[in-house]
Amino acid sequence: MEVKLAKSAGFCFGVKRAVDTVYKEIEKNRDEIYTFGPIIHNDEVVRDFEQKGVKVLQSEEELRQLKRGCVIIRSHGVSKHIYDIIKENQLTFVDATCPFVRKIHKIVEKESKGGSQILIIGNEKHPEVAGIKGWCSGSVAVIETKEEAMNLNMDRKRKVSIVSQTTFNYNKFKDLVEIISKRGYDISVLNTICNATEERQTEAMEIAKDVEAMIVIGGTHSSNTQKLYEICKRECENTYYIQTSEGLDLDLLESINSVGITAGASTPNNIIEEVQKSVRDKF
Ligand code: F3S
Repeated sequence: MEVKLAKSAGFCFGVKRAVDTVYKEIEKNRDEIYTFGPIIHNDEVVRDFEQKGVKVLQSEEELRQLKRGCVIIRSHGVSKHIYDIIKENQLTFVDATCPFVRKIHKIVEKESKGGSQILIIGNEKHPEVAGIKGWCSGSVAVIETKEEAMNLNMDRKRKVSIVSQTTFNYNKFKDLVEIISKRGYDISVLNTICNATEERQTEAMEIAKDVEAMIVIGGTHSSNTQKLYEICKRECENTYYIQTSEGLDLDLLESINSVGITAGASTPNNIIEEVQKSVRDKF
């Protein structure tokens, strides 16, 4: 069987940086270490950190009650008021916000201070979007679908600055911007989609076109993995979404001659390797 592993599978730059940050803090072994939310959308990695004593703060309330320790901010970033709580409580913190996300914070902060309304294209429930929202000082809206773009109700007399969640699909982003532009808004568009996502999506699509089955590896809550799955499924009917090699039913690949493998941004290398190995070993 031919196995094609995507070069762009797995950790992106920002996630690698955040995970390395936690390992570095563990090595220093000085304070109690907390991450504000799970450091990445991968249960295996989070469990490994927990075993090493890193605790996950699940809510703002938990952060408010914390009076000592070191808080690591994950690659998704957080809103401004989270930094304020950390300072008020005199906690130490290490900021592992991905620089590309931090750039969006700076854009929306500047644009909204300059009087613009902010439109974020992305998933409102995603922590990255919540973080971006938290840097806007004026009017802000989040849309994700064509219907929401059609129904957008912002002030047409004022400029609308559009940014995107870093993991949003580029074509969908273009479509939504076009709808908004046709509705007569005075827009300024900043494509803040991260290249890592685009590259991973394009490569996955190309591989999926070419193979008889496609395996997408990633956490069930990882939005970028879900998108990778959607893209691959469109090109290749036999696309399987798994978290680890245990989730892979090798019997499904029995009569297949070529398999592609890709993985979301928060999937560690050892998991990708394991999946690749179990496919190669079996066939
Ligand atoms: Fe950063 Fe892009 Fe990854 S924004 S966290 S490098 S997907």
